[in-house]
Parts: sequence; C-alpha cells; structure tokens
Amino acid sequence: MIVVFLLCVVAGMPASGQIRDVCPTCHRDAKCDDKPDGSGKVCNCKYGFVGNGITFCQDKDECQIGAMKICGQHTKCHNTYGSYDCTCLSGYNPSNNMTIFIPNDGTHCQDIDECRITGLCGDGGRCRNLDGSFECSCQVGYQVEDGTEPFHPQRDKASCKVVDCGQPASVEDTVLLSATGTTYGSVATWVCDEGFIWGSGHNTSVCGADGLWSGPTMVCEEVDCGSPAARPHSQMLWNKSSRVGSEVVYQCNSGYHNVGKGNVSSCTTAGQWEEPPVLCQETLCGSPPLSESTEHIWNGSTAPGSTVQYFCKTGFLTRGGHNISVCKENGQWTPPTLVCQEISCGDPPTVPHTGQVRNGSSTPGSHVTYYCKIGFNHSEGNNVSLCTINGSWTKPNISCKAKCGPVPFLANSEVVWHNRSVVIHRCVDGYHSWRGRSVSVCGSSGTWQTATLRCIEIKPAISHVHFLNEKCVHWKAEKYEEDSEDYRVTYTGTRDYQRSFRDEMKQYLSSKAEELKLCLLLLPATNYSISITALSSRFTASITTNTSVPEPPVPVVYYREFETPVPTLRLTRSANSLDPISLYQVLVLPVEGIMVFDCSSPGSTDPLSKNNFSSEYITAQILIGQVGTQMDFTVGDGLYYGGFYNAPLKKGRTYYIILRAVSQWKTTLKSSCVLWAKVIGTSYVLMVSSLSAAAAVGLVAFAILIGYSCMWLFKKT
Ligand SMILES: *[C@@H]1O[C@H](CO)[C@@H](O)[C@H](O)[C@H]1NC(C)=O
Ligand SMILES: *[C@@H]1O[C@H](CO)[C@@H](O)[C@H](O)[C@H]1NC(C)=O
Ligand SMILES: *[C@@H]1O[C@H](CO)[C@@H](O)[C@H](O)[C@H]1NC(C)=O
Ligand SMILES: *[C@@H]1O[C@H](CO)[C@@H](O)[C@H](O)[C@H]1NC(C)=O
Repeated sequence: MIVVFLLCVVAGMPASGQIRDVCPTCHRDAKCDDKPDGSGKVCNCKYGFVGNGITFCQDKDECQIGAMKICGQHTKCHNTYGSYDCTCLSGYNPSNNMTIFIPNDGTHCQDIDECRITGLCGDGGRCRNLDGSFECSCQVGYQVEDGTEPFHPQRDKASCKVVDCGQPASVEDTVLLSATGTTYGSVATWVCDEGFIWGSGHNTSVCGADGLWSGPTMVCEEVDCGSPAARPHSQMLWNKSSRVGSEVVYQCNSGYHNVGKGNVSSCTTAGQWEEPPVLCQETLCGSPPLSESTEHIWNGSTAPGSTVQYFCKTGFLTRGGHNISVCKENGQWTPPTLVCQEISCGDPPTVPHTGQVRNGSSTPGSHVTYYCKIGFNHSEGNNVSLCTINGSWTKPNISCKAKCGPVPFLANSEVVWHNRSVVIHRCVDGYHSWRGRSVSVCGSSGTWQTATLRCIEIKPAISHVHFLNEKCVHWKAEKYEEDSEDYRVTYTGTRDYQRSFRDEMKQYLSSKAEELKLCLLLLPATNYSISITALSSRFTASITTNTSVPEPPVPVVYYREFETPVPTLRLTRSANSLDPISLYQVLVLPVEGIMVFDCSSPGSTDPLSKNNFSSEYITAQILIGQVGTQMDFTVGDGLYYGGFYNAPLKKGRTYYIILRAVSQWKTTLKSSCVLWAKVIGTSYVLMVSSLSAAAAVGLVAFAILIGYSCMWLFKKT
C-alpha cells in the first residue's frame, strides 16, 4: 500500500509544479485531508477501505488477520462493507449478552456452564462442564448404552441405563419371600423353606452396581424334633421320622384306656413334639346300670369284658331290646336296651249309681269293691272286680235301684239341681228364704227328708223414715220374726257456706221393735244426709234433712258503768259451730224518755242518718273471724269498724252499750243481745239494777226507770 501511495504521489506531481485543488476528485469512499507537510490536500480512503483515494477505494477484509486477533478468543469474525462484527462460538456467550459485538468496548466471549440445566445427561447421568462444552458420565448403578464414557448425549447418541441384576438365583433350603425389583439397589427377602429353621446369616440380598445380587448369607437348617417322649401305660407307634409334620401315635396298654383329649403328637416347626394329649387310665366299669323295672345277674367283676344279664321284674312284660350289658375298654357298661312294660289294668269299669272302694292300684291282683249310692238299693250281683295278669279288670255285675219317688215340692220355690237322691231347692224371684235347709234327701227308709226352707215375700226392711224436731230419725221395721235386727245409721252433714266442713258419724242400734227412733247430735245450720241399713236383710233407706239457724250465743261480758265518754269494754268468747256465718255488732243507745229496744231489729244503723240523736245506732260491726277468745273494744274512738262509724259519745249524756251477736244464712237471720255497759253523763245520776249479769242473754224483758221514770225495754222476739 505504501508502494501504491508513493506511486500516486509521483503520478500526481503536476508538471507545472503548481498546487491544484484535488478534493473534488476524491473517491466516494475517501475523504479529503491536509497533507502532513501543509503543502496541499490529499484524498485518503475512509477507515475500512484501501485504495488511492481518487480512482479506487476498496473494502478492507479486517477478518483476514484472524478472528482470534480482531474479535478475541472463542469468536467468529464477520466482515461487513467498510467494517466487521464478532459473534461467540457455540458453547460461549458474549459478556454483554448481545449476539453481535465489536470488542472495542471490552466485550468478550465466556464459557457457558451447561451443567446448570439438570437432566442434560439423562436419567442416571452425571454432567461435567468443559470450556465451551460439557460431557456426561454415568452414576453408580448405571452403565453407558451405545457408547463409551465420557459422552455427549446429542453428539454420541449415548445414554445411561440402570444396572439390572435379573431374577435372583434360588438359594438352597430357602424360599424367596419378596423382592422390591431386579434393578440396582433392589432388596430380596428370603425365608427358610418349610421344615427348616434359621441357622445363621442375613435373609436379604441386594442388587449391586456390578449387576450381581449379593447374598443372602442365611443358612437354614433342617428341623429335627428328636425322639418323642414316652407316656405311662402306653406304647408309641412312630416311623422314626423327626422332621416337621411327623406324627407319633400313642396307644394305651391293654387294661388301660385313654381319658386324654387325643392320642397323636406332631413334630412342630419349632423343632419340638407337641405335648402328647394321651392319658391312660386303668379300665374299671364299676356297678352295672340299674332300672326300676329290671333285675340282673352279675358275677361282680368290673374288668373289661365282664357281662351282666338283665330280665324284667314280676308285674312287667318284656317288650324287646337287648338284655346283656358288657364292660367296655373305655370303662363303661354298654347300656342295656331291654324294654319292660308294667302290666296295668287302668281305671276299673264304672257301674251306674255305685261308688267304689279301692286302694288306687291297677296292678295284677288289685281289686275294687262297688256299693250302691245313697237313694239306691243293691238289688243283685257280684260287687267285686279283680285286675288279672293279662291287664284287664273282671266285670262286676252289681246293679242298684233308686228308692224315693218324685222330688218334693215347696211353696214359692224351684228345684236347682237333683239326682234322684238329693234335691236342692231355691226360692223364686220376689221371695227370700227364711231359715231351714234348702236340700231334700232321699232317706235310707225310701222316703224324702223334705227341705225345711220357707220362701217369704220380700218387703223392704225399713219404711216410713222421717226426721222430727231436727233431732231424731224415726222408721218402721218390716220383720218376719221376733228376732232383733241390727241397724247402722250413718249421717253426713255439709254446709254450702263452709266448704271444709264435714260432719260424719256412724251409730249402731240393735232392736226387736217395729217402730224405731234414734236421736242424733246434729250441728245447726247444716244439711244432713242420713242412711239406715238393716244389716241382716241388707236393706238401706236414706233421707236428707237440714238443721235451722239458731240464735247465736252471746259472748261472756261483765256489765260495768263508766264515767268516761271513751270506755274500753271487754268480751270473752269460745269458738262456736256458727262462727262462719256470725258477726258482732256494738250498739249505742242514748238514754232518754221511755226506750224500747228490740234485739231482732235494732232501730237506726247510722248515728248521722237521723236527726233524732236520741235514737240507738250501730257504732261498730266486727266479723267473728277477727275476734279471738278475748277482745277489748273502746266505744267512741272515732274510727270505722266494719263500715260503721264509732262516733265519739257526747259529754254529759248517758248511754247504754249493747252487744249484739248475729247469725245469718240466706234469708234467715237470728240474733241475741246483751247489755254490756253504761256510760254515765256526769249531770245525771244513773242507776241500773239487775242487769249486771251478762246472763241476761235472750228472752229477758226488763225495764229500768231512769230519772223521770224512763222505761227501757230489752226485748227479745
Ligand atoms: C429376616 O431375618 C431377621 C433376623 O436376621 C428376622 O428378624 C426377620 O424376621 C427375617 N425376616 C423374615 C421375613 O424371615
Ligand atoms: C247325688 O248327689 C249327692 C251329692 O253330690 C251324692 O252324695 C249322691 O251319691 C248322689 N246320688 C246319686 C244317686 O247319684
Ligand atoms: C242445703 O241444701 C240446699 C239445697 O241444695 C241449699 O240451697 C242450701 O244452701 C244448703 N244449706 C247449707 C247450710 O248448706
Ligand atoms: C231443707 O232445705 C231445703 C232447700 O233449702 C228446703 O227446701 C227444705 O224445706 C229444708 N228442710 C228443712 C226440714 O228445713
């Protein structure tokens, strides 16, 4: 090139030596540069091109000097028009990760580690990275197929394959129990063959990397039970084999028999004979079996082979079976099968109108005696029957005839049952039997002993029941005889106003009288139901009655006189059956003129309702339920009692205080009064006579003269 350049310079030398502008003549792939000595311009080919700069600039092949030099190691160089580029060889990667590069920025090609991708070498392969490549070899237990190690899977078409040991070979005296497979690492397990037991070594074998099974090292030894044990009183039947499954049979010696569970013992896999189940016992039969119907002949020997002969007892018939019993080797008598049937005549024949006398036996020789029943006569014939040896009764020829005539008749009766010698009578409906026997019997003399029964028309045992004076119940008795009758009188009292009340009583009375009377202790104001039962004739009559409301009892009071207008009075009472319908009223009675007091209808009930202050009024009303056995009451305290105003008493006036007891049920009202106290106004002088006693209850009428002869009448109606 230098040479060419020089040539150009020479050729370009102008003849005239004069500097020309060459730039317009430069080649398209050249540029116009200043000459280094400053003597003008010159055309130089651009970078990557060679030539004279004017007529020709040709692309330069940079790769010519070798890819190694221009692109670096493990590269390929590619020339381009005016330039070049680099790529990495397979197995390498550019460090800037661009497929095409120019190494002037430091980019270079580096090795790829192919082994980072697993499974590149296939199953059982082992990968090794090489510079720009990789190679495979096989793991333990694997072998190369279609090639040699090391190999490249694609290039060599080789691969690794697992080692296969094939089926394990059989081992003496053992049996292959199981195997996990036949390839490398598989395990096969062995057990000793039947009749052999483990002696030493391991019972597994393993498939090795060399393709061979290792082991098993197990040694199995043949089972040997040795000689079986002898048993007393027995001998052994044995074929001298002491292998597994061999058997020995025990046999009891003669005169002995086996009472054990069996007689065979086997050689077990454990190398031992089974415990022999045989147990030989001396044979003795003991006493021969007995039965109720047989007897036997026996010489008393209990040894095997001894015999006993049986036959039927007298009174029994042989019905078949075997009559010999033998003592067997097992120590048991064979059961005798002889069948003996008892000879029986059964029940003796019956003869009409006869009874039998016998001892209950039906065996041959037994006899029955017949007799005529009552009412029948023995007319003719033999009255005995015999049980014969062939099992039948002889025929009795007794005959009996009835003695009495037709059944007797009783007035108002009927016959319930009869059998010619006995008749049972009964009264017809509406009649009842009165004493006497109800049976007629045909007597031994041939006449009826007639029943003494009397049939009497039935009438009620009790009638005309009525109650008198709230006290006594009266009735009439219907009697057949002078006998006394027992009566039971029960009565029950109830009250509508007192649900809990119940008065129940029972009384007995025994009397012969036809008119009867029983007085009862009945409580007042009560409804009673009374029933009377005649016990022997079982007849009951009932009535109801009710007791009236009586005057209530007044409590005990002590008459007193007070000068205070607020006197406190006291009463004392005892409980009474009428309490539930009773109350107390306190009445105030101003003393003035002639006074008339009527306990059954006291005048005013309210002190304010009437202008007439001189009239009496109720100042308090107290329910008996609120009163105990004692009660204090203050008159004129200005309070209300039972809706009544206990008005203060006027000073200077004189009053009588009266206590009234009232019992009321429905429309009936009964009352009684007692003078309780007197309140004396200080301007008056009062005198009360003969009333101080509280016993003034009831039907007392009296008069008191006060001051100018005032009359006060205490009256009871
Ligand atoms: C194998 O032998 C071992 C003792 O060596 C024993 O425990 C195991 O039971 C044996 N397995 C079989 C299947 O016989
Ligand atoms: C009639 O009956 C009575 C009582 O049961 C009895 O004793 C009597 O023997 C019988 N008479 C006849 C002839 O059956
Ligand atoms: C008695 O009986 C009659 C009728 O049943 C009844 O109205 C009345 O209240 C009863 N008297 C008593 C005190 O129970
Ligand atoms: C008994 O009470 C009833 C019903 O209240 C009445 O009809 C009858 O007259 C009362 N009898 C007597 C005896 O008081």
